[in-house]
Amino acid sequence: MADPKNITTLKIGLAGFGNVGAGVYKNLLKNKDLLSERIGRELVIHRIVVRNPDKPRDVDLPADIVSTNLDDLIEDDEIDIVVELIGGTDQAFDLVKSALESGKTVVTGNKALLAEHGKELFAIADREKTPIYFEAAVAGGIPIIKTVQESLVGNSIESMAGIINGTSNYILGRMSDAGLDYQEALNEAQQLGYAEADPALDVNGWDAAHKAIILASLSYGSWMRSEDIYVEGIEKISLPDIQVARDLGYVIKLLAIIRLDSESGNIEVRVQPSLIPKSHILASVNGVFNAIFVRGDIVGETLFYGSGAGQDPTSSSVISDLADAAAHLNGAAASRTGFVPHGLYGQPLPVDVSISEYYLRLGVDDQPGVVAKIAGILGEHQIGISSMIQPEEHSEGTASIFLMLYLAPFGTMKKAVAEIAKLDCIQDEPVLMRVESL
Ligand code: HSE
Repeated sequence: MADPKNITTLKIGLAGFGNVGAGVYKNLLKNKDLLSERIGRELVIHRIVVRNPDKPRDVDLPADIVSTNLDDLIEDDEIDIVVELIGGTDQAFDLVKSALESGKTVVTGNKALLAEHGKELFAIADREKTPIYFEAAVAGGIPIIKTVQESLVGNSIESMAGIINGTSNYILGRMSDAGLDYQEALNEAQQLGYAEADPALDVNGWDAAHKAIILASLSYGSWMRSEDIYVEGIEKISLPDIQVARDLGYVIKLLAIIRLDSESGNIEVRVQPSLIPKSHILASVNGVFNAIFVRGDIVGETLFYGSGAGQDPTSSSVISDLADAAAHLNGAAASRTGFVPHGLYGQPLPVDVSISEYYLRLGVDDQPGVVAKIAGILGEHQIGISSMIQPEEHSEGTASIFLMLYLAPFGTMKKAVAEIAKLDCIQDEPVLMRVESL
């Protein structure tokens, strides 16, 4: 056991005391002795900056160390590590940049910040020789960043398929298991503290996209831009989609696909609701859980599973970063942190050339000749129908048609669906989803 006299403190400046910030504070206290033994330093929250100290909170704010000015964290020379958990990209960028330029190690859980400004921030960290850690930015409590940076460093990543937004996975699961409608399921996810402050990011795919940008950039050595990737959310999915997919042997998941195209050497990154076979291991990832299915050229298939959101799991990742920061400040050689740019892979792959099978739901006039018109357009685009369902129960004059379509490039598929949508017999906006064989 370490002699307590030899354990010196490491002082942390915490920006943000929301769900995750409060979790870090609470759990550092909970496992204080264990952490001191393992790390050889006592991790002490020295100062906390919040926007509104009077806001009611589940975890009490220690009033004696609270202020409302982020500059306090930079100006306090005693602070070794700045933990950024305020979210957003403006103030957070200024804080992280100033902290690095002041030689303070940074720990952040801010995926939007890294997705937008990662290239610049890692360049600053490199220049200042001051590390930035970000395990909590992707997939909550799952140690996927360390895995990509360290454990799989010997691999060329062939692909990743990730369920990396807990809120949308929770919503899809509750729609499927309890028959809740989309809004009821979203309300539940918000009450449970899974959703972002602005839940639009969870359901429109961009929270997952920010995480996909980070994973793809680390894997392929050039920082992805938001315009390089294709993103769709789960807002258009309704109960019939879930039920029909289930009857056909699939479940619907919001999937982030990151893939090296072996022919062109280019990188495909996209987030889309997708049908996956019920038998695939990702199909059993339920609730707020996340999972990332990674194929490396040496290791083969690996799966990383755990809580992708929530106070305790996400704070576990922040604390793991604090332990790495402490080891580094103790003089350990820097681990492979940050982003290492290189030019060994190709360009972002345009989404229109990526090929898959598809599911298509159409709300149509219940009239003779409708199916022929739809099939005609698909045929003109060389898109084959592998199965078609038109349930008998429907309201007067309208019908739903569910089609499963053979392999086609996404661009061709979109053109065909746009033409179908213009037919007079089409009543609602078509719902198109990929079917992923994984
Ligand atoms: N709102 C996010 C999710 C939390 O639902 O996954 C972590 O990014």
